[in-house]
Amino acid sequence: MNRYQQELEKRKETKLLRKLPIASDQIDFYSNDYLGFARSNELFANISKAHAHIEPKLSGSTGSRLLSGNSTYAESVEKSIAAFHGMASALIFSSGYNANVGLLSALGKKGITFISDELIHASMIDGIRLSIADKLKFKHNNLEDLEKKLTKVQGEKIVLVESIYSMDGDIAPLKDILELCRHHQAELIVDEAHAIGVFGETGEGMCSSLGIQNDVLASVVTFGKAMGIHGAAVLGEKWLKDYLINFSRSFIYSTAPPNHQLASIKCAYEYNEKSAASRAELQANIAHFIGQINGSSKQNWLKSESQIQSLIIPGNDQVIAAAKNLRESGFNILPIRSPSVPIGGERLRISLHSYNTTEEIDQLFSIINKWDQNN
Ligand SMILES: Cc1ncc(COP(=O)(O)O)c(C=O)c1O
Repeated sequence: MNRYQQELEKRKETKLLRKLPIASDQIDFYSNDYLGFARSNELFANISKAHAHIEPKLSGSTGSRLLSGNSTYAESVEKSIAAFHGMASALIFSSGYNANVGLLSALGKKGITFISDELIHASMIDGIRLSIADKLKFKHNNLEDLEKKLTKVQGEKIVLVESIYSMDGDIAPLKDILELCRHHQAELIVDEAHAIGVFGETGEGMCSSLGIQNDVLASVVTFGKAMGIHGAAVLGEKWLKDYLINFSRSFIYSTAPPNHQLASIKCAYEYNEKSAASRAELQANIAHFIGQINGSSKQNWLKSESQIQSLIIPGNDQVIAAAKNLRESGFNILPIRSPSVPIGGERLRISLHSYNTTEEIDQLFSIINKWDQNN
């Protein structure tokens, strides 16, 4: 057995071996398709139609944007993304992972310190790792600790946060964070992966809806969650786009998104603008879900006002058993184990959607309550 196989064995023994499950059609409390865009026949048809009309007809983009892969269509999609968010520019990346890695590795120069919330996403962590900047964490959503770290660091600093946290579902106090950043001459970067589509009157995300989109150094919007498709964009000033085109390695050394992806992004944004009803349905489901939490006793729910809700069930075996129990009743819910979360913070991560019904939510609570009584 080689060292890699030994590592796999160890994962098997500790019940941490990852496997690829086939998506099932059980009741969906696990996907990121918060507004049902991914399953929308209308959006699917719009994308096919838009794709068929793009000239020249190309299945692939044929190269990096800096070589043969750029087009007036790509540039027009970026212009419309920037306009929608009220930002000067947008640069499309093939995924949110690549956007965060490409953004932070490019900006993280010598003499700069990244000060990041301890719960930022792995893609931001990897971007920091690829940079040569210094790094420091602050306690999750803790303004006091952030201020302490901002005071401690001399020189240029960039604070990194998510607007809605992907695991805990809580919301960053962006205005307060921005004020602290201003006071300490720090820049701010916000990952809006779980906010776009969901927050703001037209799903523009937290930065635009709070009116601070032009006060942050950059924000990252991703299209694989509420937008129902795939890809991402970095939003910011024009110089930032120029800088990334010149220095962001995951942008430069990668084949450009093909027309189908660009058409998907364009159509998803158009569809999003017409989706106020889905956003309202999702908000109603969030309110109903929180009402159920408030009505249930002694359970260890994390406080969240978003579509991501988490029930702490300490122990990998225990959380896996709880998810299995729900699956057997027809509910798809992800058990999040350590080390993805700290030991003791193992949880059921429940994603709410516009298309979940109140009956499904009530049934879910009844199963969880029964489980809780028996375990
Ligand atoms: C907060 C956050 N940022 C970035 C990403 C990466 O985005 P993508 O899935 O488009 O690569 C994710 C996806 O899991 C995420 O949750």
